[in-house]
Amino acid sequence: MSISYPSSSPLGVTPPSGAARPRLTFLGTGYLGATYAICFAELGYEVLGFDVDESKIALLSAGQVPFHEPGLDDLLRKNLSSGRLRFCTSYEEVAAFGDVHFICVGTPQRKDSMAADLSYVESAVVGIAPHLHRKALLVGKSTVPVGTTKWIEELVRRHAPAESGVEVAWSPEFLQEGFAVEDVLRPNRIIFGVQSEWANAVLYSANKGVFDLAMTEDREVPVVVTDFATAELVKVAANAFLATKISFINAMAEVCEASGADVTMLARSIGYDARIGNKFLRAGVGFGGGCLPKDIRAFQARAQELGVGEALRFLHEVDLINQRRRQKVVQLAAELLARPYGPAGPDLSGCKITVLGAAFKPNSDDVRDSPALSVAGKLARCGALVTVYDPEGMDNARRESTDVTYAKVLGDAVTGADLVCVLTEWDEFRNADPQLIGDLVAGRRVIDGRNCLDSALWVGSGWQYRGMGRPVVG
Ligand code: UDX
Repeated sequence: MSISYPSSSPLGVTPPSGAARPRLTFLGTGYLGATYAICFAELGYEVLGFDVDESKIALLSAGQVPFHEPGLDDLLRKNLSSGRLRFCTSYEEVAAFGDVHFICVGTPQRKDSMAADLSYVESAVVGIAPHLHRKALLVGKSTVPVGTTKWIEELVRRHAPAESGVEVAWSPEFLQEGFAVEDVLRPNRIIFGVQSEWANAVLYSANKGVFDLAMTEDREVPVVVTDFATAELVKVAANAFLATKISFINAMAEVCEASGADVTMLARSIGYDARIGNKFLRAGVGFGGGCLPKDIRAFQARAQELGVGEALRFLHEVDLINQRRRQKVVQLAAELLARPYGPAGPDLSGCKITVLGAAFKPNSDDVRDSPALSVAGKLARCGALVTVYDPEGMDNARRESTDVTYAKVLGDAVTGADLVCVLTEWDEFRNADPQLIGDLVAGRRVIDGRNCLDSALWVGSGWQYRGMGRPVVG
């Protein structure tokens, strides 16, 4: 069933707490949970954010967002002082407060396989369930394997007091880092995976703030009301599609490299066809981050468990294409620096290489599975002296990768470099003056791993320029 709110709405329900609007809690205040907690307080809800990590809760309670997300700091401070937003580390307090508990914990890749690690989901459910003494709705938001909601129902049945009548639902999120506030306040769709009218009505009132905001802006938010399994699949299917789109254009980049064509022109030309569309067709060093890489792997693992592994075998190719793009930068570096390329890779010893970018994408400090850091590590392992600079990702990068050195500013990073690799398309790098940078480097060689530089401008300033899937210039 598909509905567009606010033009139609289920009948109102009184929240079990007796409050006028349902009180919301967010279990796990990482990237997802903290953003949701803050934005839903902004929409007028009374919100309690929970985490087992006391330092994270202390930071949030003191008005500091523990990661970089544009616009979120101001909203956090505003809503803390309004009194609508609080944070705690007690399951008991969360259970006593909330009507709707959103599960927002991480589901990383397991260390021993491609599957998702559901241990954080399990501890959140098992942690809160015994304290749920009145009816409540437990709603999953984390990205999970299909079938997880049924398993959570079973956990709740075993661990929550029988008389409480706690129900479970699934409502995946689609926020993109860097645009997270906008994506939460103004989502392009909302999915309700529910099994009862009560859960549907409670989820509606827990999202009414989003529908009301849409109404004041003369928009409508499409809502799909569906079963658990479909709701769970929506998220992984969407991410698998996005990853496939990126790897498709990166496969075309490989063909362009072999044939002298330009993938940026190709992407633009096919993107004019509305059936294809021009979004997510930027060829480069590929996708990274905390979602796409691990989600396509977990999806394959789950499909295999379900006996339909073959249906998703193409996602293995999607992953391989993505990995090959990282290696391509190493190959280009060896070519530009005229270094021999043996079976174990090139010998880059003694070469000074600057990597601009550490975050997996601009406007984020997230370095999880970052193509930029991964390439920096590969270059270092080939013997290069690698210096990394990123406008926001330095602290996380330092923790993640210790075989490179870090510079505090762009000018220091490029000074004396034999080669500059732009691997995250921050504005600071896109708008950098090739003439000024040229005066600082030892050799004017640049690899544009995101096809984000004005190649004519760089070549005009005497640089040897190499893009991804683009003809050799300079
Ligand atoms: C993604 C989904 O977009 C989001 O809906 C979901 O909720 C979480 O996963 P995010 O991880 O924030 O969001 O990043 P996204 O903007 O999707 O970018 C993922 C990666 O793909 C980045 O490394 C980005 O640089 C890369 N990318 C994106 C490309 O290489 N080419 C493109 O055309 C687009």
